[in-house]
Amino acid sequence: MATTAAALLLEEARVPAFEAWLLGLRRRIHQHPELAFQEHRTSALVRAELDALGIPYVWPVARTGVVATITGGGGPGPVFALRADMDALPIQEMVEWEFKSKEDGKMHACGHDAHVAMLLGAAKLLQSRKDDLKGKVKLVFQPAEEGHAGGYHVLQEGVLDDADAIFAMHIDTHLPVGTVGSRPGPFLAGSARFKATITGKGGHAAVPHAAVDPVIVASSTVLSLQQLVAREIDPLQSAVVSVTFIKGGEAFNVIPESVTLGGTFRSMTTQGLFYLKKRIKEVIEGQAVVGRCMVTVNFMEEELRPYPATMNDEGVYSHAKAVAESMLGEANMRLCPQVMAAEDFGFYAQKIPSAFFSVGVRGAGMEISHVHTPHLVVDEGALPVGTALHAAVAIEYLNKH
Ligand code: NI
Repeated sequence: MATTAAALLLEEARVPAFEAWLLGLRRRIHQHPELAFQEHRTSALVRAELDALGIPYVWPVARTGVVATITGGGGPGPVFALRADMDALPIQEMVEWEFKSKEDGKMHACGHDAHVAMLLGAAKLLQSRKDDLKGKVKLVFQPAEEGHAGGYHVLQEGVLDDADAIFAMHIDTHLPVGTVGSRPGPFLAGSARFKATITGKGGHAAVPHAAVDPVIVASSTVLSLQQLVAREIDPLQSAVVSVTFIKGGEAFNVIPESVTLGGTFRSMTTQGLFYLKKRIKEVIEGQAVVGRCMVTVNFMEEELRPYPATMNDEGVYSHAKAVAESMLGEANMRLCPQVMAAEDFGFYAQKIPSAFFSVGVRGAGMEISHVHTPHLVVDEGALPVGTALHAAVAIEYLNKH
């Protein structure tokens, strides 16, 4: 097999000195995880590395974010963006290893430490080829992916208004190291939350007719909500409505004044998400009327913005797939299933032609660990792969357009 340009980038990222630098970055970030919008130390590390590489950047973007730009010397061309998220989770790491988290109750349990290291690695590869780049590459180090819509806030600042396409990767503990995966069209779900407070009239449990019981209304509401997915969504479309908490009452003999319940709803399409939102409100309000209660329904969109579905653009997806195949071989570019997990990359995907890929982090003989658990293990052999794929996808895009 002829050695491709993409395979050469991977070779370079696997040169021992390069790989050691890359692993060092990831380990430093891993030891000092920071939660959403608090990524000050990580942001400083990113800026120090960009300074050392001589790459200009804008900062702060959305509080702690950094957006670097590599302007090619190969003539004017398109703008291709690459994105990594920087935040960690409020989880106590349980994996015993030399570079375990030093921050109590915080852990890079979603692999964003690896994402930052891979994008810095790509920055180094791209900067060393700067003179030949036929356009611009923007490197987005964003805050607050976990629930706080950092990607939305980055876009609000206009730093990607000129981007023609965008690409990002997430670690995948199911895929072996040396493989990547994705799928065309809808890949990750859109996700939102709801909370309802049902208010009746409290009273003695022995005299129910003198009270208005919000517990009964809450019960019928939970059951009615389950009918949305069962009876109103095409069985071939994916959607979820989960009530995850119910709170109300304390005593055995008192009908409480009010009950609060809430949960999440998801859909593989953003239209599907809007449909569920409209119907969840109608169902909750309808059940309150049946049970003579008052109700307020809150979707908390200001504090915790809903995430749109992550839809891969056919063109950018096919492009990145072809690059991945030329780098890793066809058998190592996998077709991933759709998942109901959500990503704030969906905000970029709504605005800019984009592709979101998974990068395998399961080492040979390793048991499958899971993201968002204290037991997540990332095989660092994945770092050169992600680094080289970022760089190759960007370079080839500029070459083609
Ligand atoms: Ni994540």
